[in-house]
Amino acid sequence: MANDELKAVVRDKYGKAALKVTGGAGASCCDATAPAADPITSNIYGCGETAELPAEAVAASLGCGNPTALAQLNPGEVVLDLGSGGGIDVLLSARRVGPTGKAYGLDMTDEMLALARENQRKAGVANVEFLKGEIESIPLPDASVDVIISNCVINLSGDKDRVLAEAFRVLKPGGRFAVSDVVVRGEVPQEIRRNVEHWIGCVAGALEEREYRDKLATAGFESIGVEPTRVYRAEDARQFLADKGVDADAVAPQVDGKFMSAFVRAKKPRRRGLAWRAYSFSAPTIPPAARWRRGCSAAWRAIGSRWRVPAPRRAASTRSRRARWRRSASTCAGTPRKRSIAFSASGGTT
Ligand SMILES: C[S@@+](CC[C@H](N)C(=O)[O-])C[C@H]1O[C@@H](n2cnc3c(N)ncnc32)[C@H](O)[C@@H]1O
Repeated sequence: MANDELKAVVRDKYGKAALKVTGGAGASCCDATAPAADPITSNIYGCGETAELPAEAVAASLGCGNPTALAQLNPGEVVLDLGSGGGIDVLLSARRVGPTGKAYGLDMTDEMLALARENQRKAGVANVEFLKGEIESIPLPDASVDVIISNCVINLSGDKDRVLAEAFRVLKPGGRFAVSDVVVRGEVPQEIRRNVEHWIGCVAGALEEREYRDKLATAGFESIGVEPTRVYRAEDARQFLADKGVDADAVAPQVDGKFMSAFVRAKKPRRRGLAWRAYSFSAPTIPPAARWRRGCSAAWRAIGSRWRVPAPRRAASTRSRRARWRRSASTCAGTPRKRSIAFSASGGTT
């Protein structure tokens, strides 16, 4: 399915789910027309968490986890929820970051945005804003968000690399990625995988755990973790698979325990790596002296005063690399021509 087609299917499905809640019913992740609770979305939030939320925000919950319970959110921080639906996680985040912080919800479905804004009005919270847009093209500036949360949405995207690159872009250096998502662990035959994913509600497809980690690393994230929060058994999907003409007993060994809701976390590094890139881009064409000056001033700009802060718990290799950098940076500021610094092509100093 092409990406635009996929988005139209997702929009239609969640538009109907939102209207169902507006009409007084519960929503369901498996099937927007099915009756209330399902094994993926039910019993995710504690009563203490939802007691103060509008009933419609709770009824519209279509996530597969509870990212705000697992993420560290501090007063004054800016949180962004990718695919915010009826707004439950945005409202919970707003409470955690307090009046000096802000919680954004981003969603592409008009009906969901209308429901979320109505829920915000009922909850009476001011530090919340729901934005219309796509998670593949986040309508916020670079480095403007402390924490990205999301609840069972990234699996719906046909361009997950783009989503992760956008998440990385809008996070501040040191910012946290803390999402609940459906993840596959191990190999599952394509056809069976599609059926189980439809049961879970993923139109585009969940990532295999290794793939998820690799994509996060490629986007630039570090400290990546994938923690299962709910593992699905073949038995849970038996009726759904039978309705699709799939023999649940025959496929059980291939699906049992392989699909899970997981908490996926990662961090945007504090350093920018600008000096390394400035050098490696310029290396083939620029004469050595100019290359050195360019690399050195880029290093100085990138490093700024941050490198003067002691980092006692870093690994020894990181510490010594930093010490060398600090020396290089002071050389940039002082008497450059007397010192010679050789940069390796991989970005390290020698
Ligand atoms: C499974 S629901 C989850 C809603 C919410 N996070 C929750 O926990 O209740 C998916 C939501 O993501 C939105 N969505 C899906 N794909 C999107 C995309 N590419 N860009 C923006 N929103 C998207 C849908 O409109 C829908 O509201």
